[in-house]
Amino acid sequence: MDEVELVGAQKTLSPVLRAKALDNLLPDPILGDKYAEQAMRRLDPGYDTGRFGTSQIGLAAVVRAKAHDDWARTFLDEHPDAVVLHLGCGLDARVYRIDPPATVDWYDLDYPAVIELRQQFLPPREHYTLIASSVTDLTWLDRVPHDRPVLMIAEGLVPYLTETDLRRLLTTGVDTFPTGQIQFDTVAVWAWRTSKWDPTLRKYGTRFHCGFDDPASIAAWHPRLEYVDETPMNDSPLLMAKAPTNVRRMYRLLNLLPGMRRSTRIVRFRF
Ligand SMILES: C[S@@+](CC[C@H](N)C(=O)[O-])C[C@H]1O[C@@H](n2cnc3c(N)ncnc32)[C@H](O)[C@@H]1O
Repeated sequence: MDEVELVGAQKTLSPVLRAKALDNLLPDPILGDKYAEQAMRRLDPGYDTGRFGTSQIGLAAVVRAKAHDDWARTFLDEHPDAVVLHLGCGLDARVYRIDPPATVDWYDLDYPAVIELRQQFLPPREHYTLIASSVTDLTWLDRVPHDRPVLMIAEGLVPYLTETDLRRLLTTGVDTFPTGQIQFDTVAVWAWRTSKWDPTLRKYGTRFHCGFDDPASIAAWHPRLEYVDETPMNDSPLLMAKAPTNVRRMYRLLNLLPGMRRSTRIVRFRF
């Protein structure tokens, strides 16, 4: 295997992948994603298979992925001719979990180093294309069809973009396609502002670059963009049902703190 070195925000794909891999080891998993486990073993053969622990990047990340999957499935049921743009895909195996029909064209985009790892760890499939680019260099949009409904998914990506870059991405997306759904997760302003002290982000040499206390207000960025809804993460019934007792207690406690319950918000827009 060629050595690929991940840097900064690219490294943040690892704890999220680990969470999905650990989920697959549970007797009754949430995602049941065998590709996550395979990819994690390739990324770090000695990875800690011990416990989810109480980190935010644990079971809650699996719940977040399930929420994005459920929204994506609903959209693709309604739009079987869609183009899917999975932005900041990391080593996530969403395309295999959802297994869309051949009428859907799916694009996974991330930095070149991450895409190189994907090519090594995950199998190719029909109607599936990898794009090695920063999401902020919008010339990548020239490589996808523009005349079909679009589903833009960004899981765990938006906090690493500046608000200016996010705005350009969303407004250009709306201008490029006839109709579509955009779903992503954001962090609260306090989480963005304090991210330079976050031990996990510090370890990876990165930090957040934007945050929103009212993500629904993003709809005002484009006249055709409409906010649809939000789905819970830190207080989701699924998280509470699946979490081991210590993790559940930790979340119940943290969710009592102002700002904590909605420190990450998973939101959906349509146009
Ligand atoms: C927390 S990881 C999430 C990975 C994946 N979406 C998941 O949920 O498993 C953040 C991902 O965003 C990617 N990323 C951050 N900034 C990016 C940019 N400007 N362009 C493309 N990808 C980016 C990183 O390389 C990384 O793979």
